Amino acid sequence: MSEIKFYGDKVPLEMHKVRVIQKLELPNIDRRLQAITEAGNNTFLLKNKDIFLDMLTDSGVNAMSDNQMAAMMTADDSYAGSSTFTKLENKIEEIFGTKYFLPMHQGRACEHLLSKVFIKPGDIVPMNYHFTTTKAHIGILGGSIEELYLDEAMISKSTNPFKGNMPPKALEVFIKKHTAKKIPFVRMEAGTNLIGGQPFSLANLKEIHKICKSHKIPLVLDASLLADNLYFIKTKEAACKNMTIKQIARAMADNSDIIYFSARKLGHSRGGGVCTNNEAVYSKLRELVPLYEGFLTYGGMSVREIEALVVGLDETMDINMINQGPMFIGHMVDELVKRGIPVITPAGGLGCHLDAMAFCDHIKQDEYRAGALASAFYLVSGCRGMERGTLSEERNKDGTQHFAKMELLRLALPRRVFTLSQISYAVDRIAWLYDNRKLIGGLKFTDEPKILRFFLGKLAPTSNWQTKLVEKFKKDLGAI
Ligand code: F0G
Repeated sequence: MSEIKFYGDKVPLEMHKVRVIQKLELPNIDRRLQAITEAGNNTFLLKNKDIFLDMLTDSGVNAMSDNQMAAMMTADDSYAGSSTFTKLENKIEEIFGTKYFLPMHQGRACEHLLSKVFIKPGDIVPMNYHFTTTKAHIGILGGSIEELYLDEAMISKSTNPFKGNMPPKALEVFIKKHTAKKIPFVRMEAGTNLIGGQPFSLANLKEIHKICKSHKIPLVLDASLLADNLYFIKTKEAACKNMTIKQIARAMADNSDIIYFSARKLGHSRGGGVCTNNEAVYSKLRELVPLYEGFLTYGGMSVREIEALVVGLDETMDINMINQGPMFIGHMVDELVKRGIPVITPAGGLGCHLDAMAFCDHIKQDEYRAGALASAFYLVSGCRGMERGTLSEERNKDGTQHFAKMELLRLALPRRVFTLSQISYAVDRIAWLYDNRKLIGGLKFTDEPKILRFFLGKLAPTSNWQTKLVEKFKKDLGAI
């Protein structure tokens, strides 16, 4: 990549053009109040027709390339033995150097089957940070997780480029305390989702792998957000400056024993899978795939998605493809920092993460600061974000609230989907909301599911704060 120099202000410049578009609507603020009320203040329950910019997630909603779409038309449709699947197997082997690949319908399916193979009651899985579905699958089988992270990972304002690193010393101490028998695997998550899309370095992965190897514990890499992590290693890890993206990807794979991923993120397609060179693990998983996912040559994916994934994985090896997300996110974060708005720094991958702990420090933590901010931000902008805080946690076994260490409103930027002017609109609405933040109030559950409550739970405002926020908005900015 040769860096483009600017005469004036630097902008995140896309190396693609838009050839297919989808029309958007921006409902007025009265409709938005109605819609968020109907959705129980849970942005997962909003209907797409009520949403202007959908920043809920980057899962399954990234823009595909012309070559991906074209490849979908060539898919070889058959229940068993599809040549489309062979293409994917070969592409995975070319990139990761892994002999065995098992397709699954999405990332959490990989977590489900890996947990079934590895987890016994009482087991503990150390990880650089948990992801919601990962933790739930391990927990359901009687295991638990332990997060080993840097102190800086929990500090919202930081300059550490690799806040997703696992401290090697902490892992050594942990293994000594619990013994390798209790630790079925160590999990490293690329582009650590719940702490703001923060990457780990290749040097850190190598060190962690070395420790795992010396104790004969397999290292499992969650590569769902690999693209962002690859970009950050290439641009921020001095020792990797001269490596190609493909060389970095291979080095990451060589320092992992099992790789799994959500292809809703990695490769801009849908589906997922597990790759490994470990024949014993492959054999155990292989028995479960036809039972839970589908036959071994599709595993719940459509062949069209598999074709798109083959091309998407290839495109992920191109810095000019994987830089778009981090550059746009970096720009959005810079604009918010300029305005003094609390946001996770350094900018990570996946999206821009507002620090609701600080943004809404006047709201009690058990009234869901980040959830309240998600609801308020939708109200004033029509943009849908996702709560990543206490609401996304499960309650403790005794029913008490498990407070998240970070309260974040994640504004995901699906890759190659939004324009810079749409990002500017979101920044403008966040700035207005920040100036009027004291009008935001808390939320309480009216319907609280026991598992993964953030997906389907319903909440109500603890006062009439939303009406007051709408009134002030109309006074300042009108009905839209
Ligand atoms: N691992 C990570 C790091 C993820 O971010 C996700 C999904 C999964 C596993 C599960 O994959 O959705 O295909 O089953 N993250 C989505 C998100 C849901 O919005 O961040 P999945």
